[in-house]
Amino acid sequence: MNSASEQHFLAGKHIIVAGGGIGALSFCIAFHRLLDDKIQLPPSITIYERDTAIDAVGREGYSLSIRGDAFSGGMQTLQKLGILDEMIAVSNPGDYFTLFDKDFSPLVQFRTPPVEGLPQSSMRIARSKLREVLIKNLPPSVIMNWGNAVKSAHELDNGQISIDLADGSQEICDLLIVADGSNSVIRRALRPEHTLNFIGVTSILARTHALDKLPAPLEQTYGGAIGGDGHFAFVASSDQTSALWSVSYLCDTPREAKSAGTMNDDEIDAVLAEARERTKVFSEPIHTLVNETLRSSVTIFNAKDIVPFRNHGSVIFIGDAQHAMSPFAGNGANMAIMDGYQLADQLIHAKDLNTAVRLYDDLSIPRSKRAIDISHRSITIGHSQGLWKYMWVGIARILGWYFGLSYRDEQELN
Ligand SMILES: Cc1cc2nc3c(=O)[nH]c(=O)nc-3n(C[C@H](O)[C@H](O)[C@H](O)COP(=O)(O)OP(=O)(O)OC[C@H]3O[C@@H](n4cnc5c(N)ncnc54)[C@H](O)[C@@H]3O)c2cc1C
Ligand SMILES: *[C@@H]1O[C@H](CO)[C@@H](O)[C@H](O)[C@H]1NC(C)=O
Repeated sequence: MNSASEQHFLAGKHIIVAGGGIGALSFCIAFHRLLDDKIQLPPSITIYERDTAIDAVGREGYSLSIRGDAFSGGMQTLQKLGILDEMIAVSNPGDYFTLFDKDFSPLVQFRTPPVEGLPQSSMRIARSKLREVLIKNLPPSVIMNWGNAVKSAHELDNGQISIDLADGSQEICDLLIVADGSNSVIRRALRPEHTLNFIGVTSILARTHALDKLPAPLEQTYGGAIGGDGHFAFVASSDQTSALWSVSYLCDTPREAKSAGTMNDDEIDAVLAEARERTKVFSEPIHTLVNETLRSSVTIFNAKDIVPFRNHGSVIFIGDAQHAMSPFAGNGANMAIMDGYQLADQLIHAKDLNTAVRLYDDLSIPRSKRAIDISHRSITIGHSQGLWKYMWVGIARILGWYFGLSYRDEQELN
């Protein structure tokens, strides 16, 4: 804690945030909220975001689960930021996770009473809506630059950082917060030893166009179904009127990834035919969802993650840039929200930069490591064949013990 006479180490400094995604925006909102009068001359904050403002809220089709358990406190953190109610108001139907059998009958429902003080224990929200609320709550003092990517960064001898921008200009700052996501350009430039690793699972993912009615059980729940033939299907609401589906399978080497909107009609037909083949052991609603697919949303991705690494110096990596995890973790956004909050908290309250960074890493690394470890176990079990049912009972119990979750319908397993 700094007394008024003692200069805070960030007084009068300039902070640049690379990326304007979930972690970056959470950081800026938290910094402003926690600032109080702790720093006499608060640092200036500038964000550089690759996407345009319209892309940021328009193009991002998938949805996220935000959780309120002790381990992934996305809900609690949004509440501390004062924006949880606003988020819930624009969230999707179907707010708890279910593990399904291949006929979409529930094996285990991860339903818990909300933690004290939370209106509900978790939510499913369109990524674009989550981002929209974060952007709306960005403090006016933060300078937001849309459509200007950071191309590279250099650590200077005097401790400052110089960054090169897509528009050709250069900027100098005292602290660089790197929140440019899993493919972080800055990580590749400054921490090239930390690379994304393929974790042996490939996924076809898409969403539907707007539907008159979300098929059951998506009004109530979202979740994954175990085919028992090596395929895992995932279904969820994508926004209030459309749904998300994916089917995944294990493979030794990654296949060619395709982002949404990059395939021609023939390629999309072939991928959808493949998806029908890969989902043939499952019952509804997956077939309806595949048939109602919004063709421009079809994606093929290889699941990758990174071993979370510690920060040093004046360049601080947060979110996916520091600890990318695959969608099978269902937790990267929760981690990024918590990262933003906890980094702001440490920067404002610690006695110096090194202490702030060390305390932040002490919080962020163990929890993101755990989320990644759990995702690896879930992937193995979710795609297994044969005795999977019994294995899942064990895993569900372990996860339940882990998260303090309770089960319904457990008798159906016997
Ligand atoms: C299909 C799918 C489903 C998922 N489901 C869940 C879920 O259910 N629950 C959950 O918690 N998480 C989920 N995740 C993970 C979650 O989306 C990420 O972990 C989270 O978005 C990470 O936040 P971030 O701020 O680190 O990065 P991002 O939110 O990715 O933000 C990075 C930002 O940086 C910008 N950027 C990139 N490069 C540059 C550059 N060079 N210069 C400037 N800006 C740049 C990007 O445009 C982007 O806006 C899912 C992910 C996917 C793909
Ligand atoms: C989905 O489309 C396929 C191919 O056109 C068709 O055979 C099948 O009956 C459809 N299924 C549903 C549930 O609509």
